Amino acid sequence: MNSVTVRVPAKVNVQLSVGPLRDDGYHDLVNVFHAVSIFDEVVAQEAEDVSVQVLGESADQVPVDDGNLAVQAARALAKHAGRAQGVHLVIRKAIPVAGGMAGGSADAAGALVACNELWGLGLPAGDLMKIAGALGSDVPFALLGGTAIGTGRGEQLTEVATGARFHWVFAIADAGLSTAKVYAECDRLREALGEQVAWPQVNDALMEALRNGDARALGAELINDLQPAALMLRRQLARTLESGREHGALGALVSGSGPTCAFLAADEAHARDLAVALTGAGVCRSALTAHGSVPGATII
Ligand code: C5P
Repeated sequence: MNSVTVRVPAKVNVQLSVGPLRDDGYHDLVNVFHAVSIFDEVVAQEAEDVSVQVLGESADQVPVDDGNLAVQAARALAKHAGRAQGVHLVIRKAIPVAGGMAGGSADAAGALVACNELWGLGLPAGDLMKIAGALGSDVPFALLGGTAIGTGRGEQLTEVATGARFHWVFAIADAGLSTAKVYAECDRLREALGEQVAWPQVNDALMEALRNGDARALGAELINDLQPAALMLRRQLARTLESGREHGALGALVSGSGPTCAFLAADEAHARDLAVALTGAGVCRSALTAHGSVPGATII
């Protein structure tokens, strides 16, 4: 039987600046995505209909009906190609579910690349990007990988060259957070505080740190406007972030809408030590080490 396997990375946002709420319910962003070496695998197998099976930790929390973003991706691709195609998708999850690391978006990107190959469509990257953007704000980046600035709702991408490999630790929480709820809490907090919401701007010092491969400078510049909202919805994350700082992280922030917390380490050995310390401190379910940036969805 014909099958295609695609490997897709998780992301962390090294800058997530959230602008005002738009009429369509989204926010304009400056979203600096960074792909890291925690990968889901999406296997596309020949089948009559579209179906999905999810394996791995927390797989039971992922829908296996039309609510699954990878299923939506396969259907959107078939529609774009004007073909009635089926596929059986097998997703092996390593990216935390509802963790703020774009795992669902990664699976959708994986399904697009895998089905494009399985069905012999030969669609160019630009077409896949367009379909990806309609599926979700983070799906185009999961196709692209590397490090990139996302504007609009995060789907308009400009690649950024990085000067070195960065080493990270991710503290995984017991239960996920809904992205929509975290954005809503961000709006609520801003209104309650009477905050003027500025148009988001790229942080030049952060871009320079990325270009120079300067982990110390990058650690000092990490920004996430969703962090106060995520901390409000999950109070214990403040303790997780503090624990990482106490153990010498160069920077600590909530990853995207959370609840995963990201810690920048000086090097690979430091990342390993930090992961052991965070697990030992009992401030997370588990801690994963990873590096970035890494390529986007890739056939293996
Ligand atoms: O695009 P995606 O489906 O991943 O977004 C999930 C939710 O996150 C949206 O329904 C919206 O509530 C929120 N969101 C937002 N502004 C963005 C991206 C996402 O408000 N730029």
